[in-house]
Amino acid sequence: MAQFRLPVNSRVKPGKTFAGDDQSKNLKKISVYRYDPDAGTNPTLDTYDVDMDKCGPMVLDALIKIKNEIDPTLTFRRSCREGICGSCAMNIDGVNTLACLKPVEEVRGTVKIYPLPHMPVVKDLVPDLTNFYAQYASVKPWLEAKTPPPPDKERLQSKEDQGKINEPSACILCACCSTACPSYWWNSDRYLGPAALLQSYRWIVDSRDESTGERLDSLEDPFRLYRCHTILNCTQACPKDLNPAKAISEIKKLIAHRRH
Ligand code: SF4
Ligand code: SF4
Ligand code: FES
Repeated sequence: MAQFRLPVNSRVKPGKTFAGDDQSKNLKKISVYRYDPDAGTNPTLDTYDVDMDKCGPMVLDALIKIKNEIDPTLTFRRSCREGICGSCAMNIDGVNTLACLKPVEEVRGTVKIYPLPHMPVVKDLVPDLTNFYAQYASVKPWLEAKTPPPPDKERLQSKEDQGKINEPSACILCACCSTACPSYWWNSDRYLGPAALLQSYRWIVDSRDESTGERLDSLEDPFRLYRCHTILNCTQACPKDLNPAKAISEIKKLIAHRRH
């Protein structure tokens, strides 16, 4: 399959227009990136008129309406419809976000929808996340402990220790942050990116984990960790209000402290 990475602010030629019913009083224009690598044609921006009086309030509601009622060939991912699964991450009005949490009325004029930037596109709004998930797996996102658990209870933590992992554990792996990061755009083959690093941090600071040293060793590398230049796009992009940039700087501090 052809691999095509969509740069941010890319210019895509207008494609088909699906005009709505003239009688509708609340039509909204939704322009959607269309691309099928197997068809061998260039991407286009197709435009649909959606009657918002007969549609739910979110961008995902509009996409579902388009697929169900106007154009069944439109392809996108979604599952939970409430900001939990991370599947519907896309670039809406120039910003990476979750379509199910983005109200259509927040966008002035035409709503422009693209796939997450700089990822290979499988079809339309569906990015290929194979590398993203492989990077996540590479940080060993599970508890590593040689000490056996107590025979009669779970491995317990203090409230303070639990507090350290609450925020990073809330990541839904939507990839909005990594695909907003310029360092990740240019080096995603070698730089882990903010999502995987946030998850690495989540296990580094887990008081029950016994592989902290090995985890830090694996990150001490000019590319895997140090391609982060603290530009902060990642934290701005996170639809769950998490702070991957801070987690990355905490990892850098932990590595620096153990050198002294
Ligand atoms: S802070 Fe680091 S990870 Fe976040 S956007 Fe900037 S370079 Fe990327
Ligand atoms: S840190 Fe935020 S933006 Fe990044 S993958 Fe997790 S939930 Fe998505
Ligand atoms: S559909 Fe699950 S986060 Fe949007």
